[in-house]
Amino acid sequence: MAATQAFLAVGSNLGDRAAHLQRAVQRLQQVPGITVVRHSTWIESEPVGNGPPQGKYLNGVVEVRTMLSAMALLAIGKALEAEAGRELPGKHHHPRPLDIDLVFFGDQRIDRRDLCVPHRQWHLRSFVTGPLQELGVDTAPQFRWQPPELIETTGALAARTADWLAGDCTIGLVPTMGSLHAGHRSLIEIARAECDRVVATIFVHPLQFGPNEDFAAYPRDLEKDLALCRDGGADAVFAPSVAQMYDPAFCSHVAVGAAAEGMEGALRPGHFSGVATVVARLFALSRPHRAYFGEKDAQQLAVVRRMSKDLGFPLRIVGCPIVREADGLAMSSRNVYLGAEDRKAATVLHRAMASACAQFARGERDRDRLLARVQAVLATEPRATVDYVELRGRDDLAPLPPGPVLAGRLLVAAKFVDGKRPVRLLDNMALDAGASA
Ligand code: PAF
Repeated sequence: MAATQAFLAVGSNLGDRAAHLQRAVQRLQQVPGITVVRHSTWIESEPVGNGPPQGKYLNGVVEVRTMLSAMALLAIGKALEAEAGRELPGKHHHPRPLDIDLVFFGDQRIDRRDLCVPHRQWHLRSFVTGPLQELGVDTAPQFRWQPPELIETTGALAARTADWLAGDCTIGLVPTMGSLHAGHRSLIEIARAECDRVVATIFVHPLQFGPNEDFAAYPRDLEKDLALCRDGGADAVFAPSVAQMYDPAFCSHVAVGAAAEGMEGALRPGHFSGVATVVARLFALSRPHRAYFGEKDAQQLAVVRRMSKDLGFPLRIVGCPIVREADGLAMSSRNVYLGAEDRKAATVLHRAMASACAQFARGERDRDRLLARVQAVLATEPRATVDYVELRGRDDLAPLPPGPVLAGRLLVAAKFVDGKRPVRLLDNMALDAGASA
């Protein structure tokens, strides 16, 4: 078996920095199966990331030839870090006597929870590129991770997530229909904070639009969406065509029951069956550990939770807080179609629910009086055509009987018709001790 050429980035910013680096080189040389070929000069660099205030690093790159696997070389690096006094597991971006990263391992590309080669950020770190240059390493052929990776076929999505699972990564899925805004970005950011790998999906899904709805006109801008996914921290974006998702013989649909009754389910027949079908398909293809949905579409969230439980998908559905504009309007891809006057008028949804929340906070508990409060405020805005106002169970959205309400969720939907095209907006607000207006 031929030895593999590998490059390690070494750094230290605690204690005798040069001694730590020099000792790391000596210790590497002593490991059976590793030959140190050479190392760069040590250079000083500022710490990166958002760690506490700390001193400058001394950095360099070490070239080795090794008979070991990449994982075994990584383990040696971790052992040397511990030997130098680094606390394990080390906190990110904290000062350390020794840091060893595997930058390149031959031409291998490995994407695991505990190891990515080439290193995810090698090309962004001058304390790595500088020493590599000094050693005359030709980095041109080396792979750069430039997330988000655009995936367009179901097979490629299944293969990518299978790789991640094999590499012990937790996967977060953020299903969307594109036309992304700060609300979607917050879903991606929450997924990023909780999972090792994040895949956002962008698919304007025909099965969840009725014949008179805005499927054709639904806003689409893939380039802008990809940029938002990148900035939010997604590793991959799955943006398939309709033909990719549904072959011509496709004929299986998820039927949803009580969770889809009333409200959107009543006004948009077939909508939630479409949503449940595509979401189930995305779950099956990507096998995520967690899937992230906005609370703005509260009934959709309840339908997805029910469907996932009923069909036994082994994942956690995470509901994420509504993101609002400064004036309270809930962010929605359809807001762009509001005319200027309707845009101002649309804040009435938030104001109406906030007013009932304030009544609730002052002790009002009667279901019908709370609903009447929402309706009264909505009635002050002639531009809004109200589809429904409901007060239901806070999470399962089960209908509540008349009488006292201890906790619940107000849900409203209204149309605004004076913009470029009619726009239906949804919003909701939880009523409980912690509810904020
Ligand atoms: O909320 C949406 O954008 C869609 O309904 C979803 C969940 C991506 C399914 O197409």
